[in-house]
Amino acid sequence: MELLIKKIKNEGKVLSESVLKVDSFLNHQVDPELMFEIGKEFAARFKDDGVTKILTLESSGIAPAVMAGLQMNVQVVFARKRKSLTLVNDLLTANVYSFTKQESNEISVSQKFLKEDDRILIIDDFLANGQAALGLAQIVKQANATIAGMGIVIEKGFQDGGSHLRENGYKVESLAIVDSLADGKVTFRQDKVE
Ligand code: G4P
Ligand code: NA
Ligand code: NA
Repeated sequence: MELLIKKIKNEGKVLSESVLKVDSFLNHQVDPELMFEIGKEFAARFKDDGVTKILTLESSGIAPAVMAGLQMNVQVVFARKRKSLTLVNDLLTANVYSFTKQESNEISVSQKFLKEDDRILIIDDFLANGQAALGLAQIVKQANATIAGMGIVIEKGFQDGGSHLRENGYKVESLAIVDSLADGKVTFRQDKVE
């Protein structure tokens, strides 16, 4: 997605060979116009997949997921990372280990929001090792619902989450794929083919 790639080129900061900082439009400050376009792009890419609901993970997945939900005319559910006071009964849960943060989080969703006949689009801001996406997929399976696909804003193509998920048969659509962060420079997959 050209607009997103331009934004990453202009505002992304390479923190190390493996971490890209995009807090000016995605992970802290949020750019609503860009998110709106991201929502449209997800809607276009999954228009034939019969999506009935979107599932994401708090917090940075929420903005792109809501914009996609707006375009696709479906509700959006976000899994919680912390236990909620009011959300206590009938929880679907999964453990998500973050290699980046070296910590484990239990994520949870109330089962009343995921039905057996739902076709769920999983959306997240980043795809690195794929643990968050797999945790969300586990929750969809516990609900006996169907995974319609996975929409990712930024995939780090040099980490193995994307290939792992695609090998497992999931339709994974990433709006920008970063193939390298070497030498303080962001290299996109499309840059490589050109
Ligand atoms: P994985 O799910 O693909 O295995 O990824 P990982 O555990 O490594 O990701 C843990 C957190 O770090 C996630 O955010 C993820 O979005 C974020 N992350 C991973 N790689 C990068 C990166 O290169 N740049 C940035 N900016 N974030 C990255 P989170 O803890 O869920 O936080 P939130 O922002 O959603 O609140
Ligand atoms: Na994040
Ligand atoms: Na995230």
